[in-house]
Amino acid sequence: MLGKKIINLKAVDSTNSYAQKLAKQRYPEGTVVFAESQTKGRGRLGKSWLSLEEKGLYMSVIFRPPYKAAKTQLITPLTAAAVCSALRDFKLDAMIKWPNDIYISEKKVCGILSEISLKANKPSYVIVGIGINLNHKKDDFPIDLQHKSTSIRAEMGCPIDKQEVVKNLLFYLNMFYEEFIVKGNINSSISVCNKYSLLKGKIINVKNKEHIITGLAGEITSNGSLMIKDKVGTVKDVITGEVIKF
Ligand code: BTN
Repeated sequence: MLGKKIINLKAVDSTNSYAQKLAKQRYPEGTVVFAESQTKGRGRLGKSWLSLEEKGLYMSVIFRPPYKAAKTQLITPLTAAAVCSALRDFKLDAMIKWPNDIYISEKKVCGILSEISLKANKPSYVIVGIGINLNHKKDDFPIDLQHKSTSIRAEMGCPIDKQEVVKNLLFYLNMFYEEFIVKGNINSSISVCNKYSLLKGKIINVKNKEHIITGLAGEITSNGSLMIKDKVGTVKDVITGEVIKF
């Protein structure tokens, strides 16, 4: 289902912005936009995403899940589980940093950006953008990112074929999305998120709007939230946020 319609671009501002335009023109669910480079690749919370030509995988998928906003947001852990599974097939020790990053060797290798568009307060479509550092060498990252970013090439010690990664990724995305649509849950994806959770058992700081929540990271729930136990033993269910220390 996903990937039945594929659009390959040489360069674009952002594959997410491009896919937004297509979604508004009623392109079907499962349309995937790939670009070799992006001039304005963006990440969560207003950050930019380094999008060097021929080094990374930059793609966005149009989803139209028939659910309300809270359930639709599960598309992010679902995608994280798919990316993690796809990379693990290459014998990479990929881990999920809730809510939307994939790490290898404690360094970020992939970011996911889900953008939900609402119509009359109901989700009309979701664009899920995935950026994976494939063939970057250490020097390709800006100095301030070098200690916290990695690529598949840096981890495997040899270049990787982009199409192999895409094939694996679409396989897992299709598998997990089918469960979401047919069974209405994402239990398999959440199991993967918990099995390969980078945060579980660590003391973390999560920035959630104006607050910073500190505590021991526990399970990711079937709602996609993260359980955090604070120092007096109170367990909080954190729906979303940015993990600023772990
Ligand atoms: C993050 O780590 O904050 C998310 C990064 C998401 C980057 C991808 S690259 C493809 C797609 N197009 C964009 O502009 N962003 C996403």
